[in-house]
Amino acid sequence: MRRGSLHGEIDLNAVTFFSPVQEEIKLIEERMRSQADESHPDLRAALEHLLAAGGKRIRPTLGLLVGNMLDAPLEKLITLGAAVELLHTATLVHDDLIDGSLLRRGMATLNARWSPPATVLTGDFLFARAAKLAAETDHLPLMKLFSETLATIVSGELTQMFSAHGLINRENYYKRIYAKTASLFEMTSRAAAMVSPVDEPEVEAMRDFGYQIGMAFQIVDDILDFNGDQAAVGKPLGSDLLNGLVTLPAIYYAEANPEDPDVLSLPIGGWTHAEHMTRLVENIRASDSSKKAMREAEEHVDRALGKLNVMQPCAEREALENLAKYIVDRKV
Ligand code: IPE
Ligand code: IPE
Ligand code: MG
Ligand code: MG
Repeated sequence: MRRGSLHGEIDLNAVTFFSPVQEEIKLIEERMRSQADESHPDLRAALEHLLAAGGKRIRPTLGLLVGNMLDAPLEKLITLGAAVELLHTATLVHDDLIDGSLLRRGMATLNARWSPPATVLTGDFLFARAAKLAAETDHLPLMKLFSETLATIVSGELTQMFSAHGLINRENYYKRIYAKTASLFEMTSRAAAMVSPVDEPEVEAMRDFGYQIGMAFQIVDDILDFNGDQAAVGKPLGSDLLNGLVTLPAIYYAEANPEDPDVLSLPIGGWTHAEHMTRLVENIRASDSSKKAMREAEEHVDRALGKLNVMQPCAEREALENLAKYIVDRKV
């Protein structure tokens, strides 16, 4: 079975951690789809388009595996998974509009087909439905965590927008990837433990597990922006630097080549020169910067695996180990 469309090509049988939750993921997708029932036909069509485009469903898979490992009620995990994936989808709808990206999951983005106002409103609708789903878990601390995470994501995106483009700064980078990506992985894993019959140390271990794989996930996403195969990744590559976003491979390159004129030009607007950035992307590709960045991602995955050691051996724990390893092996 394959999930996804043109770019999808995710062979679920080859990726072992998906198989224990395949049926449950279908329930989550149904739950997401039903969120547009009785709404404007264009909204229904938009949600259909977004769902048909697929996606790896890595966040709901994380929630299901953690929750199943810790004996959470399935109903709560389905609701949580739908809430989290819908929130993720909403952030992508807005992110692609903000970045002017026309391709996502190998298909045209909403902003490629619709006006900016219609795209913004569709994103808003998805946020609203995600919040409703979070409320349907009937778990007040979870709802609080959910909205805090959304605030972290949005405030991180705003900080990124208003902070100096072309800024080469590690601390800023780590804060940024926590806000935009790791916070949602952390929240998902923690929330799945919160609805399980376990104590605080287990919740904390699962929070950290989500945090670590989330950091690794965004570092790898940033590496793929340089080294990925465009057809496989299904979204435009090389675009981070062109948008003035200096990510970990570029930071390593800048540290090793502080006198490179393109590096020197970055903080003073050099990122707006497309031909210079194309040259810089080529130089970064040819360097060992991505390898160094990958080592950092692997360290996060190792820390994540350490958190699983305290859990009882079971099929879900093994699947979570495979999920953590997949984060750094993935090509999509
Ligand atoms: C893309 O997330 C946005 C990032 C946080 C890098 P995914 O790579 O999980 O996107 P889909 O859902 O599989 O398309
Ligand atoms: C998007 O991060 C994260 C959010 C939507 C908050 P990116 O901008 O790196 O994601 P891609 O590369 O467009 O998928
Ligand atoms: Mg983007
Ligand atoms: Mg990216």
